[in-house]
Amino acid sequence: MACNSILSIRFLCNTIYILCAFSFISVFYWCHCSGQCYSHYQMREQTQNQPFDILRFPSAWNQLTFSSEPTPKLLKIALFIKKWPDPSHAGGLERHALTLHVALAKRGHEIHIFTSSSSNSFPRYLVSNLYFHLSKPTPAGYLDQASVWKQFQTQNTTGRPFDVIHTESVGLRHTRSRYLTKLAVTWHGIAYETIHSDIIQELARPSEEPQAHALTERAMKVVEEVKFFTRYAHHVATSDHAGDVLKRIYMIPEERVHIILNGVDEEIFKPNVAKGKEFKQKFGIPALKLLVLGVAGRLVKDKGHPLMFETLKEMFKENITFRETSVVLIAGDGPWGVRYRDLGANVLVLGPLEQPQLAKFYNAIDIFVNPTLRAQGLDHTLLEAMLSAKPVMATRLASITGSVIVGTEMGYAFSPTRTSLKQALYQAWLDGRGALEKKGQAALQRGLDLFTATKMAAAYERLFLCISTDGNGKDSDNYCQCQSTSN
Ligand SMILES: *[C@@H]1O[C@H](CO)[C@@H](O)[C@H](O)[C@H]1NC(C)=O
Ligand SMILES: *[C@@H]1O[C@H](CO)[C@@H](O)[C@H](O)[C@H]1NC(C)=O
Repeated sequence: MACNSILSIRFLCNTIYILCAFSFISVFYWCHCSGQCYSHYQMREQTQNQPFDILRFPSAWNQLTFSSEPTPKLLKIALFIKKWPDPSHAGGLERHALTLHVALAKRGHEIHIFTSSSSNSFPRYLVSNLYFHLSKPTPAGYLDQASVWKQFQTQNTTGRPFDVIHTESVGLRHTRSRYLTKLAVTWHGIAYETIHSDIIQELARPSEEPQAHALTERAMKVVEEVKFFTRYAHHVATSDHAGDVLKRIYMIPEERVHIILNGVDEEIFKPNVAKGKEFKQKFGIPALKLLVLGVAGRLVKDKGHPLMFETLKEMFKENITFRETSVVLIAGDGPWGVRYRDLGANVLVLGPLEQPQLAKFYNAIDIFVNPTLRAQGLDHTLLEAMLSAKPVMATRLASITGSVIVGTEMGYAFSPTRTSLKQALYQAWLDGRGALEKKGQAALQRGLDLFTATKMAAAYERLFLCISTDGNGKDSDNYCQCQSTSN
């Protein structure tokens, strides 16, 4: 990348400023380096200190180290998303879109968001380079492809053309994405993963309920997806498992599948013991309680609340000591909120919490439990808890055990049955606060390494920079190249 003024050199190379100022050669070298990314992980068939093609990096890009300096090349990015969220009620895909694109705009990129006019109110973000282009959705609630494409074309010929297109799931349909090479799609759930959820639901089905067709229909859905996914140039998988499935089952060439795990705002979700204490006092939780369990999210069947409810009920009944020494805090709303209240005084249903309150909630608990049965995407609540230095307990779904709870050092995984969940809950209770705090520190370390919004935004920025050049960058400008180091 060009270093065209002393000012930009100082900007880019502030840590090694002296070196930069003294010799032109070292200036060039360091400036070159500042745009690089490094892998500290040894790759097979990869000699150390050798450059490698980032598009072929087989693991999560979150493992790479990116320069924290701003990139000198600013992009004009088009985003297609079905609905732009209201920040306090954003689900998985929406939360991801919001966190990522606000972060990219803050880094100086020009973001044009093509979305439906039924989207939520548009809060004035603190960044001015986010532009919204609204269109009337189709009766089924999708983006009207003809309208958004027209809006896109107008923008593409106004000012400068777009450098790259990003679509959250099928925001831009395959019929339009087909011949576009500078395009990436992020999948937050693919049909193949959902089969696992379908199996769990079918196993839990009461015998008097008729068999659901979901399971048999899902396999055909996978086949359909395999056929049309190939019409997107680059694919971002939000979990290691989804990345593997896209390459193996969906047969997308590996240089077109990139794993970038979700990240959450590390400025909001961080350890703060004082805030945790304050939260506990506010809700009158006695310091004597040995275990404070936290549950958060939409309190619906899909998220495993019937399982959690039944398991807690059984445990409170069979083990008085457990009941007397533990308390369960439940944040969120949904039909299961009311039922949880029936479990007695040591279950506190707090209702939905705004993000700052939610951050305090994580600090007040000893362990976060997520009984979700949805095997899709990468759950944000687990990442938020980890960045708050809390151990996590969750269903043994491939996205979770493959990318988040990868070992017992940061938490517990259980099968979606009462016996298994009960065993995990008793285990955490017996392990006690000391052990949980230790696991919380391991969770925090993993969170800071992989799951920050900063890390996610840096990875996407690098992907967009790379594909915007179609891999044809000049040597000094090659955003598709990374370096592996031995330390
Ligand atoms: C956007 O405009 C550029 C420059 O005119 C053109 O090369 C490119 O094909 C356009 N993109 C699309 C998707 O139409
Ligand atoms: C409660 O469970 C623990 C751990 O399994 C066990 O040691 C204890 O005896 C149980 N207490 C009661 C009252 O059942």
